[in-house]
Amino acid sequence: MTPHQQSKAVTGISPLGRIRPFVGKYSSRLVGGFLALLVVDLLQLGIPRLVKRAVDLLAHGTATQFALIQSALFIFLLALGIAGCRFVWRYLILGFSRLVERDLRDDFFHRLLTLDRPFFQKKPVGAIMALATNDLAAVQLAGGMGLVASVDAAIMGIAAIACMAYISPQLALIAVLPMPLLAVLTRVLSARLHRRFLKVQEQFSRLTEFARSTITSIRLLKAYTQEAPQAESFSRLGRQYQKDNIRLARVHGTLFPISGLVGNTSLMLVIFFGGRLVISGAITVGDFVAFISYLYMLTWPMMAVGWVTNLFQRGVTSLGRIGEVMDAKPTLKDPAQPVSFPAGQTEISLRNLHFQYEGQDQPALAEVNCVIRGGEIVGLVGRSGSGKSTLCHLLARQYPVKDGAIFLNGVDINRLPLVAVRERVAYVPQDVLLFSDTVAANIAFGNPAASQEQIEEAARICRIHEEILGFSEGYQTRIGERGVKLSGGQRQRIALARAILLDRPMLIIDDSLSAVDLETEQKIISGLATYLPGRTCLIVSHRIAPLRDAARIMVLEEGRLLAQGNHAELLATNTFYRNMYHQQQMRRHQGKEL
Ligand SMILES: Nc1ncnc2c1ncn2[C@@H]1O[C@H](COP(=O)(O)OP(=O)(O)O)[C@@H](O)[C@H]1O
Ligand SMILES: [Mg+2]
Repeated sequence: MTPHQQSKAVTGISPLGRIRPFVGKYSSRLVGGFLALLVVDLLQLGIPRLVKRAVDLLAHGTATQFALIQSALFIFLLALGIAGCRFVWRYLILGFSRLVERDLRDDFFHRLLTLDRPFFQKKPVGAIMALATNDLAAVQLAGGMGLVASVDAAIMGIAAIACMAYISPQLALIAVLPMPLLAVLTRVLSARLHRRFLKVQEQFSRLTEFARSTITSIRLLKAYTQEAPQAESFSRLGRQYQKDNIRLARVHGTLFPISGLVGNTSLMLVIFFGGRLVISGAITVGDFVAFISYLYMLTWPMMAVGWVTNLFQRGVTSLGRIGEVMDAKPTLKDPAQPVSFPAGQTEISLRNLHFQYEGQDQPALAEVNCVIRGGEIVGLVGRSGSGKSTLCHLLARQYPVKDGAIFLNGVDINRLPLVAVRERVAYVPQDVLLFSDTVAANIAFGNPAASQEQIEEAARICRIHEEILGFSEGYQTRIGERGVKLSGGQRQRIALARAILLDRPMLIIDDSLSAVDLETEQKIISGLATYLPGRTCLIVSHRIAPLRDAARIMVLEEGRLLAQGNHAELLATNTFYRNMYHQQQMRRHQGKEL
């Protein structure tokens, strides 16, 4: 099975089926374009007839000045008509291909936004970027020049053969004799072309992804002085890309010469057999000249067979690759019969929750049972890799869970609409993400209508307000590339303020204050109860100290809920917790970071 067939088997939509709706949508443009193309071809066919007339007049010695000027003038008029109509078809049909490209790109982007985390984990950003650039361009080329060339070749081919047959059916038959050979060769070569092109595109994806990940991690790269090995790896990918391209060019390069060879074989036959027909008086010299002109007109359609096949192969391959994203379904689906979200404070209940990432052999969470009552603030601690973030992802509805595992206000989470759940969760991920925009815009990201007072209030809760005022332009200071450089702790507090401003019934903080000093983290957390009454909060921290005052702390170890209770209870009853706490205290007194 070729990859193209695979994608067809998976999706059920053939790559060309994807183009069909556009043909309907832009039909007037296509019809207009092809009519103009038809006119161009017909006018072109008229030229050899005028040439024949002139040659015959000359051969018979009956040519007059006037007759020659007349022929020349007609040819000029035809040429004018051809030029005008050529402009029209190019404008209409190449425009069509640009419109298809635009629609596909829009559609592609929209589909991309419907997909969720498991998809993006499998598909690197570089691969997606390659689809949106290289593959889309290949589709555009096939839908523009490819389409034109194939229709043009068909019209010209048939019309030229018809004109040749009009002059002499036998000679026409002899002239087209070598052509089936071309068709066979093109078919064989195009299959190979398809495979090699797919390889080229895949290698391009790898190259793009590598460049992207290098640029985004440039600071790390410098700190570890890994520039040279990285450059070497990049060159290796680039060399392979170049080799793949050469392999493609080798196939491509044989198509044109073969078409040319076949065309010239026809010419050879026509000179010999056509010449005999002239000698025997079956056709005139003018017919002979016109016949050869038609044969030249046939050369382009023959060459086009190879070229167009190549373009279409690329276009279809690329459409198949784009189709894989277009047809990807989000892993999380809305329930068939959704239940509306029960009002009031939100109680989270986990019942024997199990979760395993795709491709992992160990569960990330196992047999987790607990209830977080509406309005309660609960801490979650555990070593790195114990499953804390996984639990947050599940509550934020980023990965699918089995039925009967997570309940919100007594309703299975799988029976609630996805958006209804996501809209109730303010989630601060472990890796803070800020945009290249002002501080105020970053805080108001999820709530663009928020007033300055509300933004400042959120910043105060997160104890970042004073620091923001200290920036050169206060809340209007730009963050990022051409703006202020923030410390890790500042970034984290701004990200937290963004979630606080959302003011949603559930707040999930995934170790998002790890770079903030202990005392500040502790103050922020104890402030939450006052500022956010009635909100259900799950606060993850790899450090125990900031959670000391929480009414309840849950301890996670290797995906299992080891114990829960308040700080004093856990210290007294749980050895694992006690050891973890003491180790952290010790490191702290030694002045080491936690
Ligand atoms: N996207 C993922 N795909 C596969 N395994 C993962 C993924 N994310 C986390 N894991 C694994 O799941 C376990 C729990 O990870 P995580 O929830 O991130 O722990 P914590 O947040 O407590 O450090 C770890 O063994 C980790 O390697
Ligand atoms: Mg984590």
